[in-house]
Amino acid sequence: MKIFLDTANLESIRKFNDMGLLDGITTNPSLMSKESGNPKDSMAEITKIIKGDVSLEVVSTEFSGMLEEGKRLREYGENVVVKVPMTPDGLKACKSLSSEGIPVNVTLVFSPNQALLAAKSGAKYVSPFIGRLDDIGQDGMHLIKEIKEIFSNYNFGTKILVASVRHPMHVIEAAKIGADVVTLPPGVLDKMLQHPLTKIGLENFLKDWEKVKAENPDVKI
Ligand code: E4P
Repeated sequence: MKIFLDTANLESIRKFNDMGLLDGITTNPSLMSKESGNPKDSMAEITKIIKGDVSLEVVSTEFSGMLEEGKRLREYGENVVVKVPMTPDGLKACKSLSSEGIPVNVTLVFSPNQALLAAKSGAKYVSPFIGRLDDIGQDGMHLIKEIKEIFSNYNFGTKILVASVRHPMHVIEAAKIGADVVTLPPGVLDKMLQHPLTKIGLENFLKDWEKVKAENPDVKI
């Protein structure tokens, strides 16, 4: 399963990329709005730092505007995936951009039928938002299971990108289902790295090694 970071924050992107954990990035206008500075500079920097796919989202709501914006966004780099909303114009733009060789991520997907239509429109990724479904009392992970089952019947080539992830349990469930990608807020990736027994275990190893050193002052590892 690939891991993308769901942020436009350069510090977080550098931190996890330096650890070798990132296969890509997803952004959206809300994530952009949380960062200071000109978004043009952020988008240029992100596409430079990250070798894998970087989703940058259009803000037009009609077909021709989406096409124009999608082509402009693609100028930031060969790794740019144009993110379009799951609307009739979005799907039309998906078909058109995909047929020109520009990869598309269809976002704001909340039902298996929307995922099916996005796949038929040539999307490279569909982004089902599981946390937002959980928020309204629907089972977000069930949607991932349904999309996985549907896609396994055909050869769309469209990847399931699990979005709106809220906690590490979401990641475990998505991995068990066999989702292609999860996109994680930096806080969730941080939590995945940690376990209290790892911390305590390391502290004890180091304490015990101090005893060894006290008896063998010249010892080195
Ligand atoms: C996906 O690409 C979106 O950027 C994101 O996962 C939305 O998550 P949210 O529901 O936490 O805003």
